[in-house]
Amino acid sequence: MPGIVEVRNLRKSYAKLEAVKGISFEVGYGEVFSLLGPNGAGKTTTVEILEGLRKRSSGDVTVMGRDPEKSMNELRTTVGILPQDFNFIYNITPREALDYYKESLGLEADPGEVLARVELTDSADTVFEKLSGGQKQKMGVAIALLNDPDLVFLDEPTAGLDPVSRRALWKVIEDMKARGKSIILTTHYLDEAEKLADHVAIVNRGVIIASGTPKEIVSMHHKADRIMLSGSDKLQSILSSMQIHHKREGRYLVIESDSIDALFSIVERLKGSSGDIEDLILKRETLEDVFVRMVGEEAAYEN
Ligand SMILES: Nc1ncnc2c1ncn2[C@@H]1O[C@H](COP(=O)(O)OP(=O)(O)OP(=O)(O)O)[C@@H](O)[C@H]1O
Ligand SMILES: [Mg+2]
Repeated sequence: MPGIVEVRNLRKSYAKLEAVKGISFEVGYGEVFSLLGPNGAGKTTTVEILEGLRKRSSGDVTVMGRDPEKSMNELRTTVGILPQDFNFIYNITPREALDYYKESLGLEADPGEVLARVELTDSADTVFEKLSGGQKQKMGVAIALLNDPDLVFLDEPTAGLDPVSRRALWKVIEDMKARGKSIILTTHYLDEAEKLADHVAIVNRGVIIASGTPKEIVSMHHKADRIMLSGSDKLQSILSSMQIHHKREGRYLVIESDSIDALFSIVERLKGSSGDIEDLILKRETLEDVFVRMVGEEAAYEN
């Protein structure tokens, strides 16, 4: 079965700048798909082409089997969109905005329920310009969800949200997924992608440099897990006497290995020195570690 979104060899140029250089991916029905990448990588360009808001230069794109460039009007009732840096031109309240969309799109929606889901009930009657940055963002999310879309595009939905609101939005995304909806999520929070996404594509300078489940990407590009130790002044000589290779990073002594089992056996050997140890952190490599290394290495290579 074809995916809810299919992208084949997509290219987009703005005058001389080729922002998207032939990317391909597929989003399955009921999947959370996350596009990650540094600033200017081409993520918003890509999703706005899928949303029918920008024209592609070349390549094939379908959203629910249709070409978004031609059919976005028909897709309006089943697709939700949160643009990056959501802004609202009319100075009305979130409740009025949702009532307006409900009316004009002829939706069955319950605006009060949607406002509660994004935790905006307390500010539902405050005019847009008096909302805080995070509250404005939540209003954008509420508008994107109002039609209970089968597919929602969320371009940096948690930018500017406090940690509690961020988690509330994660729950909204998880609930949508549990109801079989599909979500395309752009984010700079790698922990968010790691937690929510079934599939991740890392975009850099207009090309996909890694793709797979978060676990697959971490294991494919994995370099080293680490033990971070702090404690008494004797620690360094204890490690040296055991011939355990280590380096200093701030107040920590760091031991790296590509084998987690090797690190466990080092922890075992350190048992007798526990009196000299204050902190002992066993840190596995995360999607963020891999991301920073891959994108950083490409930048260093270019410069
Ligand atoms: N309307 C436009 N006209 C000209 N250049 C543009 C336009 N929109 C984007 N670009 C350029 O295309 C490149 C990709 O931009 P895009 O907004 O897609 O990046 P992004 O991955 O979403 O970045 P961010 O993480 O900062 O949101 C950038 O170099 C940007 O300057
Ligand atoms: Mg963007």
